[in-house]
Amino acid sequence: MAETINVLISEKDVEERIREMGEQISKDYAGKQVHLICVLKGGVFFMCDLAKRISVPVSMDFMSVSSYGDDTKSSGVVKIVKDLDEHLEGKDVLIVEDIIDSGRTLSYLIDILQKRNPNSVRLCTLLDKPERRVKDVKVDYVGFSIPDKFVVGYGLDYAQKYRNLPYIGVVEGAE
Ligand code: IMP
Ligand code: MG
Repeated sequence: MAETINVLISEKDVEERIREMGEQISKDYAGKQVHLICVLKGGVFFMCDLAKRISVPVSMDFMSVSSYGDDTKSSGVVKIVKDLDEHLEGKDVLIVEDIIDSGRTLSYLIDILQKRNPNSVRLCTLLDKPERRVKDVKVDYVGFSIPDKFVVGYGLDYAQKYRNLPYIGVVEGAE
């Protein structure tokens, strides 16, 4: 089935914003090493581009949690599908997410990661849908706040498609 995708945030605007976010993070973490944690799969495009814009030393790790199936609605169930490879003891952790929607995934993840004794944990997301929040989470860096629409591109999928779009688009008929 072919869906129609309308551009919400252009490639140029996404790139510019990521550059700004990288500069801000570099200032905030001056003199430290930042340990980026990518939440797969959606966060991968954002993390790669963000990491290139950070001028302090960076290390990276990946984890995968699932709260959604091939559906556009939250199941409310969050489980770790792939855990981190490295310990977090003493590290300055920055979780890198594609989007914060209900906040369920992140509030769960932050609780788990805090128990591993990092020096600090902050949260960075490319997109935020504040209207949809069910669980309160403190977001330290937000690329764009967007309306309550189902979006794709830049890592975000609709039934595993469209992650590779270089812009953020709205899927017509996905709600
Ligand atoms: P939360 O637990 O409801 O905050 O869900 C966060 C996860 O749901 C994100 O990491 C995405 O994988 C997925 N998600 C939420 N909204 C969208 C959307 O508009 N497009 C694609 N995936 C989404
Ligand atoms: Mg995600």
